Amino acid sequence: MSDNSGDTTKPWGGRFTESTDEFVERFTASVSFDYRLYPYDIEGSIAHARMLQKTGILTPADTTEIIAGLEGIRSDLEKGAFDWQVTLEDVHMNIEAALTRRIGDTGKKLHTGRSRNDQVATDIRLFVRQEIDFIAAIIDELQAALLDLAEREAETVMPGFTHLQTAQPVSFGHHLLAWFEMLDRDYQRLVDCRRRVNLSPLGAAALAGTTFPIDRHYTSELLGFSAPTANSLDSVSDRDFAIELAAAASIMMTHLSRFSEELVLWTSAQFDFIQLPDRFCTGSSIMPQKKNPDVPELVRGKSGRVTGHLMALLTLMKSQPLAYNKDNQEDKEPLFDLLDTVRDCLSAYLGMIPAIKCNRGNMRRAAMKGYATATDLADYLVKKGIPFRDAHEIVGKAVASAIEQEKDLSELSLDELKGFYSGIGEDVFECLTLEGSLNARDHFGGTAPKQVRQAINTARDRLALR
Ligand code: ARG
Repeated sequence: MSDNSGDTTKPWGGRFTESTDEFVERFTASVSFDYRLYPYDIEGSIAHARMLQKTGILTPADTTEIIAGLEGIRSDLEKGAFDWQVTLEDVHMNIEAALTRRIGDTGKKLHTGRSRNDQVATDIRLFVRQEIDFIAAIIDELQAALLDLAEREAETVMPGFTHLQTAQPVSFGHHLLAWFEMLDRDYQRLVDCRRRVNLSPLGAAALAGTTFPIDRHYTSELLGFSAPTANSLDSVSDRDFAIELAAAASIMMTHLSRFSEELVLWTSAQFDFIQLPDRFCTGSSIMPQKKNPDVPELVRGKSGRVTGHLMALLTLMKSQPLAYNKDNQEDKEPLFDLLDTVRDCLSAYLGMIPAIKCNRGNMRRAAMKGYATATDLADYLVKKGIPFRDAHEIVGKAVASAIEQEKDLSELSLDELKGFYSGIGEDVFECLTLEGSLNARDHFGGTAPKQVRQAINTARDRLALR
């Protein structure tokens, strides 16, 4: 970044009699971060130039020159051969000034009928639309990876938890499908948000539209937007789409944080349910035995950062009068960081999920502890004609006695069990096994491996229909 070479004349300098204070120049500049909008800025400018030609505002010769100039700038930028100037404030004025340096006075015609206000709104929408597509594609892949793992582990029994206390046995595949559903809602939220992102503010100009006979539908179409935005004031001031995206991203990061918490717990010596590949873990500089789940821990931590950006964007917009205000320049850093963070976290998961190794024996042993099949025994009694509340009471007593003897419910003898209710028969042991418990939950959305496999097939169809 340079601030003292090339043409630094302010494109808006006409009415000023003294030059900008050096501090103010740095304080108001955004080029140090908004430079990354350049591909969208150039795309938007080319569409604007084409529209100016179509409507007869620019001659075909001028338009051809402008577009060739912009394409030349784009290729310089791609090669890293572009000298960004802080004195030219932002990405828009840097590129416009470069155009004029390159093609001469014709370059000065590009800004006819537009303002940086509609220009920046257009750039961000193009950028966000592209990012949403990248992110949605990673979510899609991650969901497919979860389905593969769920299929592999459909029969794997683990304790299901509520309050982090053993509740009922579940299939590990079923647990993974819960993650799948969370990500599915995240995907849907992004797709929904994209519809409101994908509108063209170009032509709203500074705030009130322009006196030139522009064709906003044409630029909208050229840029692949679904329609132009309907009100010029709203067009330059609206950042709802960024807030919505940040909200969707925050919910998604909350999900990733919850997955991460489970991975951290499950890789601990106390649970020892799964192993993460070495390449996704790090060691300790003092404790030689350590293999730390840094990646899930960091993802968990980064959820705070993304939610923070949501708060920043909401607060940024609060109390802003119509239409554009310079405050809006503050939308970019949170938005950029949020999108980079989300992409990194999803990519980390995409690398980790297929490489998860299950310690099936430990999961099973854990499911045996904690009387996970107590509800099954209560349900068994209900099927023998006992009202559920009474059955609950009876099983509570059986559990208390089993705890005293340090036994599982399935290790109590038939006679002992009959002591709690005489109608208990030999068939009770079927429902006290882990497999019996799982298989009994044989309905849509239940944890029976048969249902899990069906759910995986349906989920695969859902992904295919996107
Ligand atoms: N850098 C500005 C932003 O990011 C571009 C728009 C500036 N418009 C203005 N009227 N000063 O919001």
